[in-house]
Amino acid sequence: VQCTVIIPAAGKGKRMKHDKSKQYIEIDGKPILAYTIDAFEKCDEIQNIILVVGKEEVDYCRKEIVEKYKFQKIIAILEGGKERQDSVYEGIKKVPEDSDIVLIHDGARPFVGAEQIKQTIDNGIRYGACVLGVKVKDTIKVVDDDNNIVDTPNRNNLWAIQTPQTFKKELITLAYQKAQNDNYCATDDSMLVEKYLDIKIKMVEGIYSNIKITTTEDLVIAKNFIHQ
Ligand code: CTP
Ligand code: MG
Repeated sequence: VQCTVIIPAAGKGKRMKHDKSKQYIEIDGKPILAYTIDAFEKCDEIQNIILVVGKEEVDYCRKEIVEKYKFQKIIAILEGGKERQDSVYEGIKKVPEDSDIVLIHDGARPFVGAEQIKQTIDNGIRYGACVLGVKVKDTIKVVDDDNNIVDTPNRNNLWAIQTPQTFKKELITLAYQKAQNDNYCATDDSMLVEKYLDIKIKMVEGIYSNIKITTTEDLVIAKNFIHQ
């Protein structure tokens, strides 16, 4: 089984409010994005890595990340688009013909482990589509536009989704093509499969440490994970 991972890392990290995009913030002298790539570089199941970055960062990523850390599996460094979905779509178009499975993993999610990567590949092969997630710890409320509570869904059925989200290549390619044609914008990859394809998507139980670095609090947590 041939597996390609697309790593979207073309965002600006607005919620981090840092002078550079959050994926380039260094922890112990190493950019967050390099930790993320490391996880896939070390995973034997992965053959190819496609990196999608901002237009201005292509050269920096080639020299200061791919060459500096001697990553061997990077087959393309592409320019991303306006939304995450546009960036991922650029990657989808460059997945090698012989890949069976496509994983999509946030550049800002550096603590994914080989075990979780393997589990999503296994489930992707078996079911065609799966996402990694964890049971929510907090009670979740649905509110209206005036912040009045309208519903409290049963927590047992609520999961916070992570990445990788992992698919058979033909399925995710078709879902993305349809969405881009429709100008339909989703908040995660599996939503496109939910909307356009009539297949079941498996939830794979992940680990709470697989956080997406989003706000400054997450940097404090990230430093601790790296030092433990
Ligand atoms: N991403 C991307 N292209 C975009 C927007 C986001 O490749 N146009 C990537 C980000 O770089 C990140 C992942 O998608 O690795 C998840 O997105 P998110 O956490 O929302 O990152 P940002 O969009 O950069 O952050 P913010 O929403 O706070 O601006
Ligand atoms: Mg964003």
